Amino acid sequence: MTSSWRLTCIACGRPAEPPASAGTCPSCGDPFAILDVQFDLDRAAATMTRDALARRSLNHWRYAELLPVEPDPAARTWPVGWTPILDAPRLAFWAGCGTLRLKDEGCNPTASFKDRASSVGVVHALARGATRIACASTGNAASSLAGYAAMAGLPATIFVPWRAPEPKLTQLLIYGADVRRVRGTYAQAYELCSAECTRHGWYNRNCAINPYLVEGKKTCGLEIAEQTAADAPDWVVVSVGDGCTIAGIAKGLIEMHKIGFLSRVPRVLGVQAAGVDPVARAFEAGELPRDCSGQTIADSIDVPVPRNWRKAVHYVRATHGTFVRASDDEIRDAMKSAGRLAGIFAEPAAAAAIAGVRRAVTQQVIERDASVLAVVTGSGLKDIRTAMTIAGAPTEVEPLGACTST
Ligand SMILES: Cc1ncc(COP(=O)(O)O)c(C=O)c1O
Ligand SMILES: [Zn+2]
Repeated sequence: MTSSWRLTCIACGRPAEPPASAGTCPSCGDPFAILDVQFDLDRAAATMTRDALARRSLNHWRYAELLPVEPDPAARTWPVGWTPILDAPRLAFWAGCGTLRLKDEGCNPTASFKDRASSVGVVHALARGATRIACASTGNAASSLAGYAAMAGLPATIFVPWRAPEPKLTQLLIYGADVRRVRGTYAQAYELCSAECTRHGWYNRNCAINPYLVEGKKTCGLEIAEQTAADAPDWVVVSVGDGCTIAGIAKGLIEMHKIGFLSRVPRVLGVQAAGVDPVARAFEAGELPRDCSGQTIADSIDVPVPRNWRKAVHYVRATHGTFVRASDDEIRDAMKSAGRLAGIFAEPAAAAAIAGVRRAVTQQVIERDASVLAVVTGSGLKDIRTAMTIAGAPTEVEPLGACTST
């Protein structure tokens, strides 16, 4: 089971030689010209059949033909991916669509979908003989990378923005990472991380410029295709920060269509926070807005300068999809509703996708009878402080009888 692939530029389409230094295109010089992994899909289709998949392990390495790395036997046991999809009829009623399914990425080992990218990043770093791996992250990529680096025994340095929530910080400290809390924004943490990687020769796991990591995120799309096959949704809904996740998921759906697993490609809907919406604006205007520095409670998608907007726009267009925005109030409402109506505890950035479903139905982007699948990208336990502000308080009651203990 080996894959066959090459790199091309997402902006100019020209081929590039791996390994490309910074991950951007050596030909066109555009800072957002991220490279893209193109697989030989005919070759993949020959061996990645339904029968073959039935015999493979239930983690995301089952899609070996469509991944640019080969894990060693220990890495093959990492329980990443193959997350459940549950039906949420009461939440569908709340959102106003025909059916609503939720893919619960909070079930990944570090409780977010970032495990898909981190596992690929760590395997790639090891294959290249890296002695340290680093990333900048609003939280989930950091804790995920720290977890997988710990599984592999590879030292990790993580740059987090000042506002990263404490549970996420705590998680990566528990995994033993070298944590650098940057007195600044995510963009500043990102710049510092890139500079330090260049200076020390560390492996840079920053998904936005590392084309291999988007392929890890892609496995969520591959799974949606395999798990829903005969009954694929009309829409797949994903919240968007840097744009890597939605690009990967859309790419995965397209590849599964091309190799015969899907009879049609679901349309992909990107959801951005209304306060920080540069990718939605780039989708509409064809270029990144000059200034996009608003605010949102959804820290994981609070990305004013999204590095992978071109890839996101490219692949969303390829599915005939589009973008909507969700306000912080709508995100809070979606968090509560997902908990009460579907038993899903989503972090704000993940709840944004659910809020986006409702918004898209209201805006008549999603039809009232449409079947929808929303990707719940991370667990609510990751950002307990925000959850506490909307959860309400317990009812205080007295125990039965008098207390006898002293
Ligand atoms: C929970 C969650 N949802 C969505 C996203 C958005 O992913 P991307 O930045 O690749 O667009 C992130 C990114 O950090 C995230 O952590
Ligand atoms: Zn180019």
